Amino acid sequence: MTSYQPEPYKIKMVEPIRLLPREERQKCIEKAGYNPFLLRSDEVYIDLLTDSGTGAMSDRQWAGLMLGDESYAGSLNFYHLEETVQALSGHQYVLPTHQGRGAEQVIFPLLVERQGQYVLGNMHFDTTKAHIELAKGRAVNFINAEALDTAKEHPFKGNFDLAAMEQFIQDKGPDSIAAIVTTVTCNSVGGQPISMDNIRGAYEIAKRYDIPVVMDSARFAENAYFIKQREEGYANRSIPEIVKEQFSYCDVFTMSAKKDGLVNIGGLLAVREDKSLFQRCQALVVPLEGFPTYGGLAGRDMEALAIGLKEVVDEDYLTQRISQVGLLGKLLQEAGVPVQSPIGGHAVFVDVGRILPDMPKTQYPAHAFAVALYVESGIRAVEIGSLLYGRDPETGEDGLSDLELLRLTIPRRVYTDNHMRYIADSIARVYAKRDQIKGIAFEYEPPILRHFTARFRLVD
Ligand code: F0G
Repeated sequence: MTSYQPEPYKIKMVEPIRLLPREERQKCIEKAGYNPFLLRSDEVYIDLLTDSGTGAMSDRQWAGLMLGDESYAGSLNFYHLEETVQALSGHQYVLPTHQGRGAEQVIFPLLVERQGQYVLGNMHFDTTKAHIELAKGRAVNFINAEALDTAKEHPFKGNFDLAAMEQFIQDKGPDSIAAIVTTVTCNSVGGQPISMDNIRGAYEIAKRYDIPVVMDSARFAENAYFIKQREEGYANRSIPEIVKEQFSYCDVFTMSAKKDGLVNIGGLLAVREDKSLFQRCQALVVPLEGFPTYGGLAGRDMEALAIGLKEVVDEDYLTQRISQVGLLGKLLQEAGVPVQSPIGGHAVFVDVGRILPDMPKTQYPAHAFAVALYVESGIRAVEIGSLLYGRDPETGEDGLSDLELLRLTIPRRVYTDNHMRYIADSIARVYAKRDQIKGIAFEYEPPILRHFTARFRLVD
């Protein structure tokens, strides 16, 4: 047996990429207001901004596009998608949406019945938090303490602190809790998995107090893979079996299909068995997303998604996927760069808080590192720290994130291990020159989700 993990596919189409000269990169980032989100894609050499909608589809998915039955109502592709999701998840009612946040905008106004109700999570993703707040709810996280110590090894850093969550429910009263959201894997702390035991534990607490559970399932297959690798009792279970068990511990799930759905656009909202809740979702989907058998997608998009959901639970695919991300993490660890350990599913998170401990959080150290990395190498990465976290809505206070992370997000089936080596090498170079990295300050700060469109200057 070799220790290599070859890709379980061969490549039959390529998209050329080009590294601009350093002086041009310098000009591009200046023009983009020192915000990598504002770069054009042809100014980027290797794009690690996100794993969302950036994957490569298979030949079967591309062939599926030709089967698109573009009917406004009753498209055959919807029925294929519906059957696939029912078989994968055990949930009865399925609504397509244009992407994950399309599902969020439908479900949270239905679950948050009164202003100020809480929605508890292991760690909410930023659009999830935004939709909870738009629905006048309050998002609260109960991530376990180990997750916030990037140097500490723990197999399931996505886990809830269940005791703290239950205490909160008792203190505030179950009536004040609108829902619990279980995010698999937990993106915001590094694509870290949550164990089946913990997923079940959160569900059992919810049921004790009659609270609905929503699973934010963007990376459901990657989570299942980690459970198989790391959790006692799962080594001999198949990925589809583990996936189905995961989905059994929620009443509703939202899915950004742009990740483990292996498509460039698409999302899902599914309800396990509550017909009345489903009907209320259906009624809202129509004005917000589209007729219930298309939900903002073309028939061809639904076909590609139905096929992607079958491909993603293939264990050979998942083994190569997770080990490629692991390779990048290992190379960085060997170079002495502090990263969230163990390495997560979809990304390596560099702990810039430990690299630039003296830079004030209000100068956004991880974003400053991202700017330096782009100039050094043409690589685009993204800050997950105080900039993304935003200000306290009540006090306006800034610099509040526990961690200042730089996310190197790996698209699915797109880059090779040689790209991983180039990335590791580039980061090691920026790390070696870390005392030259300048902090950043706002020139323009938008009021919500500020990181996307903000403009900055370098601080001397
Ligand atoms: N939930 C999680 C855990 C996510 O990571 C995302 C998106 C969403 C919900 C929203 O889904 O983008 O399809 O509307 N995450 C992307 C990222 C954008 O880069 O991590 P969407």
